[in-house]
Formats: sequence, structure tokens, C-alpha cells
Amino acid sequence: MIRMNKVLTNESKDMLTVALPKGRILQSARGLFKAAGVDFSVILQNDRRLIAEDRDAGLRFMVIRSQDVPTYVEYGAADIGIAGRDVLLENERDLYEPLDLGIGACRMVVAEPAELSEKDNPANWTRIRVATKYPNITLKHFLAKGIEVEIIKLYGSIELAPLLGLCERIVDLVETGETLKKNGLVEVEDIMNVSSKLICNRASLKTRPDRIRGIIERLSAAMEAEKKA
Ligand code: PRP
Repeated sequence: MIRMNKVLTNESKDMLTVALPKGRILQSARGLFKAAGVDFSVILQNDRRLIAEDRDAGLRFMVIRSQDVPTYVEYGAADIGIAGRDVLLENERDLYEPLDLGIGACRMVVAEPAELSEKDNPANWTRIRVATKYPNITLKHFLAKGIEVEIIKLYGSIELAPLLGLCERIVDLVETGETLKKNGLVEVEDIMNVSSKLICNRASLKTRPDRIRGIIERLSAAMEAEKKA
């Protein structure tokens, strides 16, 4: 571990470290970042490596769980990263968020079984139980409406909770709506739109402004070019 730190900090001083989230977003971000001169193909080879460098470009890439990206960037273990608005609002970290990348667009909603929704009216809720990966956002949402909420924190496959009687409602992300549909659930309230953002460590922005601002500018230009295409 000590040796690893030494290698990463001393021999690679000029490297800019980019934290990338595992999963769908990584593929969506690939083209946009490549167009902006940040080609992370080197980390996408399926060889279980968690970190890889493109020495010529002076870039080091790491792939981690989406929830961990803001943590690495806030502490400066990574200089920049890609993080969803959902993860950023859930954890409220001290980061610079210069750019909405417009990828990974989806919505956060409240959903319940279709059968229940036929006789249920969210306007009458006073106390509910909700399963979610987002306890903080969920609590804020319902408190603002004066609804008392009991939250069951889960880590995935949230749509399963109402099917097995864990609770009747869930708060989760919806992209195509297919997962809700296949599990007999319907959306009953919209909480917010979600997409992925570029995030930067505040100190890195001061110590390496040219490199980071350069990436921000090239990403903006690539997004503009994509819109026009
Ligand atoms: C996400 C989300 C929903 C699903 C929505 O889950 O939590 O379950 O995608 O997509 P859809 O509206 O296009 O069907 P993800 O695949 O990330 O896995 P998870 O449930 O284990 O979090």
C-alpha cells in the first residue's frame, strides 16, 4: 500500500486524476470525453484494473462506484470526476460543479403498485413508508410537504420492495420506465430531473487551473458540436 502511494504521488506528479463511475454513464460519457481530448479507453479493458494511466496525455483514470466519485474528488484523491445530480444532492459535498454533461438523463420519482394508485391520492398522505437508495433527498422531499416518512434504505433493485411487502412506495430513478412497468408499479410523483455533471476538486482548480479549465472548455465545445450535429 505504501509503495502504491509512492508510485502514484511521486512518479506521476503531472498526472491529472479522473474519477469515473462504473456502469451505464461510463459508456455514455466515452464519446464526449474523447472529443474533448480525454480518452479513457485504457481503463475500459476488462482486466480488473481499477486504475490506469495514459502517460502521453498526462491522465490517470480510476473506475469506482458512482456514490464514491464525489468523495474521491472532494478529498483530492481525484482532480475531476463524473457524478450524477442524484448522488451530489444526496451527499452534499464541497465540490466545484462547472458543467452539466447532459448525459445519463433520467428522473427521480415516487412510485407505488398500479393497483394501489387507483384508489390512492398522494395529496392525502400524512405518514408513509418508503424504500430508497436516497434517504436524504427522500426525507427532504416529504418533510417539505409536511408528510412524515419512514425510510427503508436499500442499495439496489428498489422496485422489489413493494412486491414483497417491505413497503408500498419507493423513491427511485426512472429512465425508460420499463423497470417500473415490468414490476407492476406506476409513478405517482415527480421529484426532480437528474443528469451527470463534471465535478472538480476546489484545490486542484487553483493549483492546475489551465489543465482543468482546458478540459471544461473542450467538453463544452464538444457538447455544442454534438448539439449541432
Ligand atoms: C436504475 C434505477 C431503476 C432503473 C430504471 O437501476 O434504480 O431500477 O435503473 O431504469 P428504466 O426506467 O430504464 O427501467 P440500475 O440499473 O442502476 O440498478 P439498481 O436497481 O441495482 O440500482
